[in-house]
Amino acid sequence: MIRFERNTELDIAMKNLIRSMVDVSDYITTISHYMGMKLTRQKEKDLIEILRKYNVPQEGLKYDLKVLTENPYFKDVKLDSVDSETVNYEKATIKKRTLISTNFHQLMGKYLFHHHPIGYFEADIDLPVLKEGKKIWMSPAISELESMGEGTEKGHGKCLTIGLGIGVLPYLWLLKDEVESVTVVEINQDVIDLFEKYIRPQFRTAKKLEIIHGDAFDYYNEDFLNQFDYVYVDFWESSGDGLGLYTRLMKKKRDLPHVDFWVEDSMLHNVKYIIAPYLYAVYEGRCVTDFISSTDGDLKELATKVNRYFKTRNDVVRTEDELLSIIHGKDVLREILAQ
Ligand SMILES: C[S@@+](CC[C@H](N)C(=O)[O-])C[C@H]1O[C@@H](n2cnc3c(N)ncnc32)[C@H](O)[C@@H]1O
Repeated sequence: MIRFERNTELDIAMKNLIRSMVDVSDYITTISHYMGMKLTRQKEKDLIEILRKYNVPQEGLKYDLKVLTENPYFKDVKLDSVDSETVNYEKATIKKRTLISTNFHQLMGKYLFHHHPIGYFEADIDLPVLKEGKKIWMSPAISELESMGEGTEKGHGKCLTIGLGIGVLPYLWLLKDEVESVTVVEINQDVIDLFEKYIRPQFRTAKKLEIIHGDAFDYYNEDFLNQFDYVYVDFWESSGDGLGLYTRLMKKKRDLPHVDFWVEDSMLHNVKYIIAPYLYAVYEGRCVTDFISSTDGDLKELATKVNRYFKTRNDVVRTEDELLSIIHGKDVLREILAQ
């Protein structure tokens, strides 16, 4: 079982960790009242005060429309009037000065405080949205573009992505000089048909783009993934449904350095939120089964995995750095999920 040396450094670190979880919960509750609201000048000032209070970085809330309008996908691909029986595109209008999320989870500082960047546009803007029934699969919304930013940048050589959506990432990759070809695995034939009929013809590139009709889990194996220089996995709707799917992938293979996962940090945050209070209980010599019993549903399952994992470790944690490297360590988090 993992053990701790009791000292002042760890006393403070443990308390700071738990306090950062409380602070983030207060922050999110406060901010949630403003989300989707049309900001008056006064509301904008109030909001900026809140961001300052929590030290959330912000250079004003106004988001430059050019981030969207000058994005090559947004400029080159038009999705009006695309429709089929199961999958359809709809136009969603974001009204001017309406507060929206502009990206997913960003960690702030060394503990567990995080924020979701927010902002508004100065004018109304229409966005195409790909839907299957009520499920929204993809829109070239600002948060989608920003959250795929790192994956877009890292693309080079032969690229693979799992999940076609409306083909934003494949297009942005194909436009890069460093990218040689793009392969996509997509499960839904309707999504592929719509893409082939309406979207691919608008792509301004002659580079190779291959679409494979198949299930992510059949292709997520070392032999297939190693045929590519860079892989980006994106077949979930949000970090909510993503954690279960990501966990299944981790059980298959978890240490391929050239493979990244959409909104991984956001998904792993849920695991950190169990590990921190669990380790605090161990540090204080409290009964860990009481801690596990205090969780419910999916969290109980996660807490049980966390317990099983730390029981197998027999190291002694002495410093804040050692503690934080466990909590933020991707290899640790993935190993816990993979059990
Ligand atoms: C969020 S979208 C991907 C967006 C894409 N990155 C883009 O740039 O437009 C997710 C896609 O994954 C597909 N999908 C869902 N489950 C899948 C699975 N098990 N295997 C392969 N594709 C899947 C969905 O049909 C959908 O097209």
